[in-house]
Amino acid sequence: MTEVPERGVPEDFAGEYQSLVAQVEEHRRRYFELDAPTVSDGEYDSLERRLRAMERDHPELAGQSSPTLTVGGVRSEMFEPVEHLERMYSLDNVFDQDELRAWARRVEGVLGNFPPMLCEPKVDGLAVDVVYREGRLVSLATRGDGRTGEDVTYNAQFILSIPTRLEASDLAGPPPGLLEVRGEVFFPVGTFNEINANVMEQGRTPFANPRNAAAGTLRQRIDRRLTDVAAARHRRDEAQAAGRTVDRIEGRLARLEADTERASTQLGGLQLVVHGIGARTGFDPQAQSESYAALASWGLPTSRHIRVHATFDDVVAYIEHFNKHRHDVEHDVEHEIDGVVIKVDSIADQGRLGATSRAPRWAIAYKYPAEVVTTTLEDIRVNVGRTGRVTPFGVMSAVRVAGSTVQMATLHNASEVERKGVLIGDRVFLRKAGDVIPEIIGPVVEARDGSERAFVMPTTCPECATPLAPAKEGDADIRCPNTRTCPAQLRERLFHLAGRGAFDIEGLGYKAAVALLECGLVTDEGDLFDLDGDALATCPFFTRSTSQGPQLSANAGLLLEQLASARERPLWRVLVALSIRHIGPTAAQALARDLHTIEELVRAGHETLAAVEGVGPIIADSLIEWFAVDWHRAIVDRWRAAGVRMADETPESAGSAVLAGVTVVVTGTLVAMTREEAQEAIASAGGKTAGSISKKTDYLVAGAHAGSKLAKAESLGVPVLDEAKFAQLLAGGPSALT
Ligand code: IVH
Repeated sequence: MTEVPERGVPEDFAGEYQSLVAQVEEHRRRYFELDAPTVSDGEYDSLERRLRAMERDHPELAGQSSPTLTVGGVRSEMFEPVEHLERMYSLDNVFDQDELRAWARRVEGVLGNFPPMLCEPKVDGLAVDVVYREGRLVSLATRGDGRTGEDVTYNAQFILSIPTRLEASDLAGPPPGLLEVRGEVFFPVGTFNEINANVMEQGRTPFANPRNAAAGTLRQRIDRRLTDVAAARHRRDEAQAAGRTVDRIEGRLARLEADTERASTQLGGLQLVVHGIGARTGFDPQAQSESYAALASWGLPTSRHIRVHATFDDVVAYIEHFNKHRHDVEHDVEHEIDGVVIKVDSIADQGRLGATSRAPRWAIAYKYPAEVVTTTLEDIRVNVGRTGRVTPFGVMSAVRVAGSTVQMATLHNASEVERKGVLIGDRVFLRKAGDVIPEIIGPVVEARDGSERAFVMPTTCPECATPLAPAKEGDADIRCPNTRTCPAQLRERLFHLAGRGAFDIEGLGYKAAVALLECGLVTDEGDLFDLDGDALATCPFFTRSTSQGPQLSANAGLLLEQLASARERPLWRVLVALSIRHIGPTAAQALARDLHTIEELVRAGHETLAAVEGVGPIIADSLIEWFAVDWHRAIVDRWRAAGVRMADETPESAGSAVLAGVTVVVTGTLVAMTREEAQEAIASAGGKTAGSISKKTDYLVAGAHAGSKLAKAESLGVPVLDEAKFAQLLAGGPSALT
C-alpha cells in the first residue's frame, strides 16, 4: 500500500515554510516584546511577504497558528467585540442655510467669534476605528454603537488603502506610540458599479448602494474561505493519492478558489479616508487640519478636498460647490457624497465646545436633499411577512437615485397606496428617504394616458388563500390569520429561527426552508427537531445522485449536524426562535437571566414578567398571549421531547454560587475546555462572562495565543489568570486564589 502523504506539499517546501514561520515569529517577538529588533523593517516585510505568498499558493500550510493570521503581532478574532479606546461620536445634521447659521451662532456664542472652520465632504461609507501602536496596525473595528464595535482586523491585511505600517515623515517625525484614527471605508463609484455588474452576472441580488456594498464586503469571513480552500485541496490530494477520481472535488475546489479570489479582490478595492483622531500618546496637534497633515505624512489617506474657511460665506460656497459637483468624476469626486462636514479647526476650541451625549458641538453635517427622480410603476404586489402582515410594494423600472439603482419600494399598506394616489402604470416620483430607503412620493398626473389601473388590495392571502383581516378593529395593516400553516409566514419564521440571533443554524438558509416546506417535511416549526436522514432523503434538495442511487447531500449532513448542536443552545435563543412578538435577543436574555426555565416563564404571571428589567407590560402581554395558544405550546413540547434544552443551569442547581457578582472574560485557547465550556462553567458558578475587557472586569482568563485582550487587561490592571488559577477560581471563588 502506498502511504498517503498528510499534506499535498513537497517536503522541502514545507521545511522552508516552517523555517520562515519561525523567523517571522522571532522577529515579531524581538520587535513587540523585547523592543530589540535585529533586522530592518524592510527585511522583515520581505520575509512576511514571502510567507504570505507561500500560504497563498498552499493555503493548507497556514493552519490556525500562522503568524499571518495576526496583524501587528496581535491575534484578532473576527467579529469579537472591541471597545474603542475613545468613544466614536456621531454628527448632528442640518439641512439648510438657516439651520447652519443657527449652529454657527451657537459656536460663536461659546467662543466669542467665528472660528476658522475646516470643511470636508461627508463620505457615504462605513465608519471604522483603526489603532496603531509604534506605527503598526493592531486593530481595525467597525463603529458599532460608538463604544464597542466588531473586530475585523484580520481583513485589514487585504485592504490596500489601509496601511499596516506608518512611515516616519519629515513633517511630523516618527509615528506616535499610540494612535487611534477614525475614518470611513467606501467603494469608489466605479468599483461599486463593477462589483454590482459581477454580482448580477452570478444571478445574485445587487447591493442597494455603495455603503451596503462596503459593509457587506468588510464583514466577509475571508479567514474561513481560506480554511475551506485548504480543506478542499487536502481532500483532493488524498483522493488523488488513493487513486480515486477527483473530477468533482476539482470542480468544487476551482469554484472555492475563484470565490475566495473574488472576495479578497473585492476587499482589496475598499478605500479608507481618515476623518478624525481618538486616543493618542506623543501626538498633540493644535488644529484638526494640522492633525490631517501629520496623518497624511505618515501614510494615512485623508481627503484631498479638505479646506479651512474663515467666513460663513466661504463655508456656504464650499457646500454649494459640492452640491453641484457631487457626482462629477471630472471634479475628482471618487465617492458618493451625502453632504459636507464642517468642523471647528482649533482643537482647544473643540474642547471648549464639548459634546452632547450623541455628537460633538464643534462639528455639524450639512446634508444634501435626497434626489428625486421619475420612473414607471410597473406593478403593485403584496408580500406576506413573518407575523402575517400583508404589505403592498411597488415594482418599478430600475432607476438610479441618490447614488444607487432602485427597483422596489414598500407602500406599507392599502391606505398608504390610496393616500399617495398612485395607479399601476403611472410615472411616479421616487426619492430615497434619509438617502437610504426608496420611497414613492406620488404620481406624475400629467403623464397619464388612461391605461393606468387602480391597485386592489387582495382579500385573500396570495400564498394560502385564507381571507385577510385587520389584526384589530381599525388597524391600517391587514394580516393573514393563518399563522400556523400559511407557507409565507412559516417560511419566514423558519428562516428567522435559524438566524444568528436565534438558533444559529447555518444549514437552514432560505432555500433549505423553502425545500423543507415544499417537500412537506415541516408543517410547523414543531417538526424541525424530529427531522432525520430518512426524512431528508425524500426531498431532492437534500440529496445528490450517485452511481449507487440518490444519497444524502452535504446540505443534509450540515443541517442534521447543526440541529444536533442547536439542541444545546441557551434558553434565550430558544425564546427568540419562537417568533413571539416583541421578543428579540435583549428581552429574551433578560427573561432567561431572571427566570431560568421555560416552565418558570409559563408559570410567571403578568406582574412577574413585566417586572423583569427591560421587559415591561407589552412584552409580558405578548408572552402570555403566545403561550395561551395550543399549537404554540405544542411546538415547545415537541422541541423538548426532541431534546432541545429549555432551561439554563441556575447557580443553585449547579451547586454553590462561588462566582456571584464576579465578571470574567475568557480569551485565547485553553487546554482543558473550549471557550464556550469555560463560559458555561463560569455561568453555572453564578458568575458573569463578558466579551470585552473593561474596568468592571474582575478577571481575565488567558489561554494560549491571548492577544489584544491580554494587553488591555494589563493596561487596566485587571488580574490575569492562567488555566490552573482559573480552576481554583471555579472551585472556590476569588478567596480560593493562592
Ligand atoms: S467626523 C466627532 N467627518 O458620518 C466627529 N464623519 O452621520 C464624528 N462621516 O459617524 C465624525 N464623512 O462615520 C466625520 N468627513 C467626515 C465624515 C464623517 C462621513 C460619517 C461618520 C459619522 C457619520 C455621521
